[in-house]
Amino acid sequence: MKIALASDHGGFKLKEEIAGLLGEAGIKYEDFGAFSEEAVDYPDLALVVAEAVCKGDFDRGILCCGTGIGVSIAANKVPGIRAALCHDTFSARAAREHNCANVLAMGQRVIGMGLARDIVSTWLGAEFLSGRHARRVEKITAIEQKYNRCSR
Ligand code: RB5
Repeated sequence: MKIALASDHGGFKLKEEIAGLLGEAGIKYEDFGAFSEEAVDYPDLALVVAEAVCKGDFDRGILCCGTGIGVSIAANKVPGIRAALCHDTFSARAAREHNCANVLAMGQRVIGMGLARDIVSTWLGAEFLSGRHARRVEKITAIEQKYNRCSR
């Protein structure tokens, strides 16, 4: 598994924490920035990760900002991206099992580092259950196609 990782300034510390976690777990990842707490625009970072996952260069993406909201909204504009904003482990598991979320978004100003680490571990360890959920995810893809956007 290869993870694309990024944040804006508001999620920088959380992104650094997650990079540490991925490193400790031996999970391959690329850090696309931000590389400091200097202000940057969250859609720019969300786009880099969403495109990397959309193209298939990375299996999944993790995005952080102050709330997780901005990066999740931006990432979900990219075809094939199902970004889930999760601040609890129940949602993180369901995001994979039910929604096949390929991007996880979190907010540094919302949760602590310990919970964030558990959310990442839960999300990385959970798999899509397919079955009835596949039909529903296919309907999400159909919405993209209806509006003339490619998807994978
Ligand atoms: C930056 O101040 C903040 O707006 C951003 O990190 C994020 O919370 C946006 O959704």
